[in-house]
Amino acid sequence: YKIVTTKSLFDMKQNGEKISMLTAYDYTMAKIVDSAGVDVILVGDSASNVMAGHETTLPITLDQMIYHASCVVRGVDRALVVVDLPFGTYQSDSKKALESAIRVMKESGAHALKLEGGKEIKEGIKKILGAGVPVMGHLGLTPQSIYKFGTYTVRAKEDAEAEKLIEDAKMLEKIGCFAIVLEKIPATLATRVAQEVSIPIIGIGAGGGVDGQVLVVHDMIGMTHEFSPKFLRRYMNLYEDMTKSIGQYVDDVKSKDFPNTTEQY
Ligand code: KIV
Ligand code: NA
Repeated sequence: YKIVTTKSLFDMKQNGEKISMLTAYDYTMAKIVDSAGVDVILVGDSASNVMAGHETTLPITLDQMIYHASCVVRGVDRALVVVDLPFGTYQSDSKKALESAIRVMKESGAHALKLEGGKEIKEGIKKILGAGVPVMGHLGLTPQSIYKFGTYTVRAKEDAEAEKLIEDAKMLEKIGCFAIVLEKIPATLATRVAQEVSIPIIGIGAGGGVDGQVLVVHDMIGMTHEFSPKFLRRYMNLYEDMTKSIGQYVDDVKSKDFPNTTEQY
C-alpha cells in the first residue's frame, strides 16, 4: 500500500495482513514512525499523559489535540492519520460532536477520528460519518471513563460487560465505522469480536487474535519507564540511553571536554 486509506485497512483484514499502528504527537516522531512503515498513526489523547504530564487523558483540549495533529500531519507521507476527539468534545450531543469533528479535520488535515464508547455516543458518530468523516471506534478500557471504572485493570471479564461490548462493536460496524480499537480485554473476547465483525479490530492488550496492534510509541521505545503493563513489549530502553547520554554531555561541558577545537569556528 503506497498510501494507506480506510479501504486499505479493510483489504488488509480481508487478506489476513495484520495492521500496525503507533501513536505520535509531533512532527519529528511522526516522520520516523511513517518512514518505518507503520500503517496507521494515532494522535492519541494519551498526549495528555505523555506530552503534558497529566495523570489522565481528561484535561487535554480540542485546541491542543488540533495542534498535535497538525504537527503529525506535516510529518506523514504514507500512513493514515487518526485523531482522538478528547473528553467533553462529543459526549453531550451529536451537534457538538460534529462541530468538534469538523474543527479537527479542517484545522489539522488529519484523515480520520477516533471516539471512545458504544451506544451512548451512537448519534454523534452517525452525524460525523454523515459529514463524510471516517470514524474509528474504541471499546473496552476507554481511559476517558477512568473515573467510572476506578481502575486501569482488564475490562469485560464479566459476561454482562462482554455482551455489551459485542453489541457495541456490531453497532459500530453497522453504522459505518471503519475500524475499532479494543483496549485491555480478554484475548478470547477480542478474537471473537474480530471474527464476528468485518471491519478491522486493532488491539492493545487484547491478544493476537485481532486484525492489528497499537501501542503508545513512547512506551514501545522505552522513553517512558514507570508504565509496565503485561501487554507492553519494549523494543528499546531509551529512558536509560538518553539519561546516560545527557549525563555524559553534562560531564563533558563541566570538564571542558566539549566543545573541542574541531567543534568550533
Ligand atoms: O490515546 C491513545 O494512545 C490511545 C491508544 C492507546 C489506543 O487511544
Ligand atoms: Na486515546
